[in-house]
Amino acid sequence: MKYFIGNWKMFGVPNSINILNKINSYYSKDKNRSKYRVIITPPYTLIESYAKHFKNKKISIGSQNCYQKDYFSSNTAAISPYMIKKVGARYTLIGHSDNRSEGDTNEMLKAKVQFALKNNLRVVFCIGENKTEKRNKKTLSALKRQISKVLEKKFRISNIIVAYEPIWSIGTGKIPTKIELENTTMHIKKVLKNIFKGKSPPVLYGGSVDGNNVEIFREIREIDGFLIGGASKSSKKFIDIIKNYYR
Ligand code: PGA
Repeated sequence: MKYFIGNWKMFGVPNSINILNKINSYYSKDKNRSKYRVIITPPYTLIESYAKHFKNKKISIGSQNCYQKDYFSSNTAAISPYMIKKVGARYTLIGHSDNRSEGDTNEMLKAKVQFALKNNLRVVFCIGENKTEKRNKKTLSALKRQISKVLEKKFRISNIIVAYEPIWSIGTGKIPTKIELENTTMHIKKVLKNIFKGKSPPVLYGGSVDGNNVEIFREIREIDGFLIGGASKSSKKFIDIIKNYYR
């Protein structure tokens, strides 16, 4: 199974649902539709209405983050995994570099993953090296650390997806070479297999994915799909990625 996950970030108002209606109508008619899943993570404000609208449709709705506590608490502006699940989210991103750079620690991320899984959300756990780590050839060790500080073998593997997003690639138009990507993806799967008794959850790639470069990623079998930022805000660009992937 492949995954095409659109991360809207700080984008969208109620009638932006038109973008998703177009994606959904392509997806529900596509002859390849049984090979992949489409998930969109709009901002918190739109989860409930979008999830209701797409309840019995192909697209699933997820959240971009969640708070590191369960149920209810006295943390201003915080939203728990329980709360997003109750309004219809089925997935949640955790550990996006935007949130890591705003202070999410490994400890917080672990609590987020735990409570998200407890609430039966599928977790899309994001990892990625920064420019300096890449320059100093520390990519593999940085990724290993990010994974092993958070994921544990007791976590339900069937509800985990890992998204590899090199920070220097997000929103920049720069992407890793094919060889780099093959090596890092294999390394990530190896680290994951060490944790999960020989099995690896799906590993996605994210960072400047578009309809043109998706053909490069398609050749790397280990990549199980994509986390798509910029290009997910346009139905045409998002559909082009899927179309060109299966061309
Ligand atoms: P991008 O963002 O596709 O715009 O590079 C990816 C992400 O941050 O998830």
